[in-house]
Amino acid sequence: MAIEPDGDHVPQERVPSGISGLDVVLRGGLLRDGLFIVQGEPGAGKTILGNQVCFNHVAAGGRALYLTLLAESHARMLMHIGPLGFFDATVIPSRLAYLSAFGALEKDGLPGLRDLIRREVQARGATLLVLDGFAAVLESSDSARTFKKFINELQTQATLTGCTILLLTTVSSEPTPPEHTMVDGIIELTSRLYGRHAERDLQVRKLRGGSYLRGIHSFDISDRGITVYPRTEAWLTRPAATDGVGGAPVSTGLTQLDSMMGGGLPRHSTTLLVGPTGRARPRSGCISWPPSIRMSPPCISGCTKTRRRSWRRQMPWDSDWMGCAGAAPSSCCGSPPPKASWTRSVSGCSMRSAGAACVGW
Ligand SMILES: Nc1ncnc2c1ncn2[C@@H]1O[C@H](COP(=O)(O)OP(=O)(O)O)[C@@H](O)[C@H]1O
Ligand SMILES: [Mg+2]
Repeated sequence: MAIEPDGDHVPQERVPSGISGLDVVLRGGLLRDGLFIVQGEPGAGKTILGNQVCFNHVAAGGRALYLTLLAESHARMLMHIGPLGFFDATVIPSRLAYLSAFGALEKDGLPGLRDLIRREVQARGATLLVLDGFAAVLESSDSARTFKKFINELQTQATLTGCTILLLTTVSSEPTPPEHTMVDGIIELTSRLYGRHAERDLQVRKLRGGSYLRGIHSFDISDRGITVYPRTEAWLTRPAATDGVGGAPVSTGLTQLDSMMGGGLPRHSTTLLVGPTGRARPRSGCISWPPSIRMSPPCISGCTKTRRRSWRRQMPWDSDWMGCAGAAPSSCCGSPPPKASWTRSVSGCSMRSAGAACVGW
């Protein structure tokens, strides 16, 4: 990674995978010139992911090379990929080329494979290389040293040619395979059973030079290819925009609640008070807040379940101070959120410096 003289880090350039959700998890995409491992058991979706990244890369103006080290023919692989939404036969072979490296590896070992990669990447001006069946390289290595040397050469190749490389492989039986310490990133695809139901999971295990959404994210494979669903709470941990509004929190008058919220309600924020019927939301909303909130800033309070008349009955303060308290709640606070999202709001309760807050009751 380049370091400016003043010590500031220059973020490494990213190459979007173009896969919905994956670039969110990677916070922008794969590292340009990066060497990545995509690992998973057979059927996990590695070949689909590799192909999808290639077609997306080509559609964005890049050039890609898909090398297989598998005994299975390209015709057979393309027969499975062909029906998927991202497939575009018109870019093959001019912008996306498929080559088998199986023969070169069988005949000349790792030096033969290395020369083939170097030659083809340069000749085709590839900015993305996918090597499918990478486990075969380890099988062909006569020692751990030779294998590491090969990975090192791939890294050099990536840097010199500005090519991002994806190595698709099965999960190693070793706890820490040597290649894991050398590559720039590791993406793992798994399938898990929940009772009788199977779910696909994606986890970025490593990404050099940048942050990413840690932990497990769901993904699925459909006729459109792979779609990743980043975990919402990980995705929204950082606000998309920083609000310029500041100031001390507004006390609710309830010491314990204030301390739970870091001092009180964020100033200039909106708070949604949710809870099941009969849990005194209107009382909490109208009666407990005023002693402190009354002063400044003014409070706009609405209640989606309380009728206007009973709402007024519970107000111990002037309607002037309440601002729009006399109006129907929906005109004060907008339409109430759909009921389904209430539950989510309670479990994902969060306080932001000047955004919306949700208090579960
Ligand atoms: N159109 C589709 N809809 C749903 N799942 C699909 C579709 N096409 C392929 N798959 C799934 O993708 C899996 C194969 O993915 P693949 O990338 O070949 O796995 P790997 O390379 O990891 O062995 C199959 O197990 C199948 O379940
Ligand atoms: Mg495969």
